[in-house]
Amino acid sequence: MANFVTRALSPKILPLRLGAEERSVAVIGGAGYIGSILCRRLLAAGHSVRVLDRLSFGGAAIEEIRQNPRFTLFEGDFRDIDLLLKAVRGADAVVHLAALVGDAACALHEKDTVAINYHGVELAARVCKGLGVPRFVFASTCSVYGSADQVVSETSALNPVSLYATTKIDAENMLLSRRGSDFHPTVLRIGTAFGWSYRPRFDLVVNLLTAKAHFENQAVIYNGEQWRPFVHIVDISRAFQAVLDAPLRAVSGEIFNVGDDRMNHRLNDVGEALRRIRPSVQVVEEQRPDARNYRVCFDKISRRLAFQSRVTLVDGMREIEQNLVAGKVSAYQQPVYHNHRVAELALTAAG
Ligand SMILES: NC(=O)c1ccc[n+]([C@@H]2O[C@H](COP(=O)([O-])OP(=O)(O)OC[C@H]3O[C@@H](n4cnc5c(N)ncnc54)[C@H](O)[C@@H]3O)[C@@H](O)[C@H]2O)c1
Repeated sequence: MANFVTRALSPKILPLRLGAEERSVAVIGGAGYIGSILCRRLLAAGHSVRVLDRLSFGGAAIEEIRQNPRFTLFEGDFRDIDLLLKAVRGADAVVHLAALVGDAACALHEKDTVAINYHGVELAARVCKGLGVPRFVFASTCSVYGSADQVVSETSALNPVSLYATTKIDAENMLLSRRGSDFHPTVLRIGTAFGWSYRPRFDLVVNLLTAKAHFENQAVIYNGEQWRPFVHIVDISRAFQAVLDAPLRAVSGEIFNVGDDRMNHRLNDVGEALRRIRPSVQVVEEQRPDARNYRVCFDKISRRLAFQSRVTLVDGMREIEQNLVAGKVSAYQQPVYHNHRVAELALTAAG
């Protein structure tokens, strides 16, 4: 794919961190928006990668890497204990991405949200601990901070405004309470993701506005004064890699916000970025109820793991625009690009 950001930040071009060794990494939920980028980076860095995923959005995002001899797919629900055991046995590390993702999708499937985002993670942790898999890196979200007037850090009070965020907090606490000499969980609270992926998502604000600008030459920004901590998916993958490469003592039992102080933006800034890549676009601002509003401090990941984001809003949006120009997406409204629409279809199918 025309993927200049991803290519430019590939580990083939950037030198690997000193001390990084080849490992076997199991990525639970590795066929999704973040996982399909992360798995490619891990493979390019010389690691073996096992993906355990039920392919809720199809398998196209990992089709190309299935030929790689260091890649194995375990297809199915990660709560299937036999499959889980097969996928993680002997791994040096587990990255746990699988979840029902987003407030809207979770609100539609409350029982499944708790079953997957909390109890499923508990099962995965128990199995990893039992098998002696030492590292467990968990994808949480900055939306655990909910609405906050102050800049929030890892030690700030949490203020979840959705079931999605609540289940992530419960899973964080459960994982950290299981830390021991044989089990080292690390929690990554990821900011608001954007960027082109092998599994594109257009239910994320930056991606959606870029698609609207491309196809309709107009975009509506809701609550433009609200803050979000944006982070590009290649930078998210770099953060996971940084944790996997770090000495255990630096990351065991730790929570890191994933992002960069320079990438806290108001939603109106996204409108400005949109105008830079498409000067003719008509941007309208409207208000609607949405309690999420937070600015996040990324000092800890910067100081402890020397992590800084590299991809700006404009660069990430330009990459999406290039892929749209190349005809990679015919209709961004299709359910497969929107987690809550796939969740709606699942409800309809269940009758
Ligand atoms: N994208 C973001 O903005 C963002 C921000 C913060 C945190 N996160 C977190 O990062 C993780 C990955 O997010 P994403 O954007 O890649 O989501 P995604 O929906 O694209 O990917 C999730 C993957 O998990 C798989 N999955 C879900 N339930 C499963 C199950 N029971 N068994 C097996 N596989 C299952 C799906 O098939 C999918 O491939 C999630 O935990 C999410 O909460 C994402």
